Amino acid sequence: MLRKWLLASFFTLFTAAAAQGQIEIFSWWAGDEGPALEALIAQYQADHPGVEVVNATVTGGSGVNARAVLKTRMLGGDPPDAFQVHAGQELIGTWVVADRMEDLTFLYEEQGWFDQYPQGLIDLMSTEDGIWSVPVNIHRSNVMWYVPANLTEWGIEAPATWDAFLSMCPTIRAAGVTPLALGENWTQQHLWESVALGVLGADDYEALWTGELAFTDPKAMEVWDVFGQVLECTNDDAAGLSWQQATDMVVGGTAAFNIMGDWAAGYMVTTLGLEPGEGFGWAASPGTDGVFMMLSDAFGLPQGISNRENTLDWLRLVGSAEGQDIFNPLKGSIAPHLESDLDLYNAYLQDTASDWTSNRVVGSLVHGAAAKEAFMSDFATVMEIYLATGSAMNAANAAQAIATQVSLGQ
Ligand code: GAL
Repeated sequence: MLRKWLLASFFTLFTAAAAQGQIEIFSWWAGDEGPALEALIAQYQADHPGVEVVNATVTGGSGVNARAVLKTRMLGGDPPDAFQVHAGQELIGTWVVADRMEDLTFLYEEQGWFDQYPQGLIDLMSTEDGIWSVPVNIHRSNVMWYVPANLTEWGIEAPATWDAFLSMCPTIRAAGVTPLALGENWTQQHLWESVALGVLGADDYEALWTGELAFTDPKAMEVWDVFGQVLECTNDDAAGLSWQQATDMVVGGTAAFNIMGDWAAGYMVTTLGLEPGEGFGWAASPGTDGVFMMLSDAFGLPQGISNRENTLDWLRLVGSAEGQDIFNPLKGSIAPHLESDLDLYNAYLQDTASDWTSNRVVGSLVHGAAAKEAFMSDFATVMEIYLATGSAMNAANAAQAIATQVSLGQ
């Protein structure tokens, strides 16, 4: 332990003295999503004043636009020094298999991280050949958000199941309120994964990604049926709204609920200045109490970058308890580092941290933690097919065809 600490301190001191030049940090944390990253960059600049940081962002929730830009840059031989990516298959199935990333085993050993992150997360980021990313956070996908005072006014409570939600929709509509706020395509996929977990339960939800449960199985078809009914309770202008605008509907009282990852808590606290528990309330999405659908934002080390030493320093900060405790209280996420100081976190985050260590943990499909990347990236098409046809059968067949094409589960 002491040896590891001495080694880590030596590296920090040594690199701090030597650091100069540039680093480009590429992400989709733009605008409203920026404060956590900006605070972490400010710490990096304080540690390495000689380095110029280029904070390169591409707007678009869930990385829908950033991933396309990244692909062009990676294929064109122009990788950013550091880029945001979801821990797990999203990186392994793309730039690791293409041999464009460096194995980070040496950095994990230098920093003692193999003992400082949960084993499940280490497994998610690893292959037989190495470990490929450094996690900065743990986000939860399956959260339902609401404003407590509004629910009291409308005489409702956060529903424990989708059936309960569906039966309260008419009451909410009668009050002139949208039951569930929804945004653009990826947020619809985000809703779908919560419905899938709620309808199937954790075992069958995971069986979808291992190929043990076919998308055409009646149990899996049921997810689309429930999803279709839930969509009936959403706003008509969903396709044109960002996730923040869907959150705004709940905060503004024109919608009762929203299902979104807990970056929504970051937005409501850091950007809108709301108090957890007063300004907004939360519950596990219907039917998922006791299950934590996780995802993690991470950074890796691309091969052939011009600023490798500066990028290693960035990764050292990203992976440290200190760095994570700067980033996560602003971001609405918790720190994967086991030495994180929970006193620095608000009531929502303390609650979710306790669920993280006590709940059954499953991965998010939409945010790169559950299934092969090739399946995940085609799931947007499955959603489009469902939205265009309203047919559970068409969607199930499309999902199963893609699962077969990409050998999902193998
Ligand atoms: C997720 C990402 C979060 C947040 C969200 C909305 O994919 O993991 O950190 O940025 O998208 O853009």
